[in-house]
Amino acid sequence: MGKYRNIVILTGAGVSAESGIDTFRSAGGLWENHRVEDVATPQAFVRDPDLVHRFYDMRRAAIQEKLPNPAHDALAELDARWTGDLLIVTQNVDDLHERAGARRVLHMHGEHLKAWCTSCDLRSPWRTTLIERPPCPVCQARTLRPDVVWFGEMPYRMGEIYAALRSADLFVSIGTSGAVYPAAGFVRDARELGAQTLELNLERSQGSRWFHESRLGPASEVVPVWVEEVLA
Ligand code: OAD
Repeated sequence: MGKYRNIVILTGAGVSAESGIDTFRSAGGLWENHRVEDVATPQAFVRDPDLVHRFYDMRRAAIQEKLPNPAHDALAELDARWTGDLLIVTQNVDDLHERAGARRVLHMHGEHLKAWCTSCDLRSPWRTTLIERPPCPVCQARTLRPDVVWFGEMPYRMGEIYAALRSADLFVSIGTSGAVYPAAGFVRDARELGAQTLELNLERSQGSRWFHESRLGPASEVVPVWVEEVLA
């Protein structure tokens, strides 16, 4: 296993871009033709729940049509073969890491394929639409919302993430712009805690200067090369 034992990997929209899922900060700051604040905040949901449901219903349907790409496949292989600690912390709400076969995945921004009942707090697997206000499978209340973290809400499982960062000797960031905190701060946390830090991204990101090394290129190319190297 060479010089590393415990790895934390942070992935962002760039890892799924070649599967055909749009990144957030591509063309003109719009996200699938919507302003983020119109569809991805708790205030937006109060103001216009139909718009928010329609948007997430479309995204939920769309991701089910997409397939993992070689970057997801390579990370799944790493997960299967790495005998040290490994945690893939993803900001993505798609399930492409899991569909590629990765097991040690933590969705810090939630998951498209779950619905959260704000009455009984249960999270249920969910593949269809929410706009018609279906009942919660447990408490029957018609108060389901997408189980995704919106702007102004706390990302999930931060305690587990920081525990993994504390014991990591390698932190790798893949396909993320470094624009959204707290994820954007993980590189500095990992570095201060003594880990080596590597960025794999299409282009230099806002956070590039914090990494010991940045390798630029499409995830489907640079991730398999890096995985082969770390497993050698
Ligand atoms: P962004 O859209 O901000 O950044 C995507 C990054 O991926 C950019 O740096 C691109 O250069 C890079 N990229 C694009 N195509 C790539 C490819 N083929 N290979 C490698 N890299 C590529 O997406 P995130 O950083 O994931 O939060 O955004 C972070 C968070 O902001 C999201 O989780 C979401 C969003 O608002 C919430 O919804 C809470």
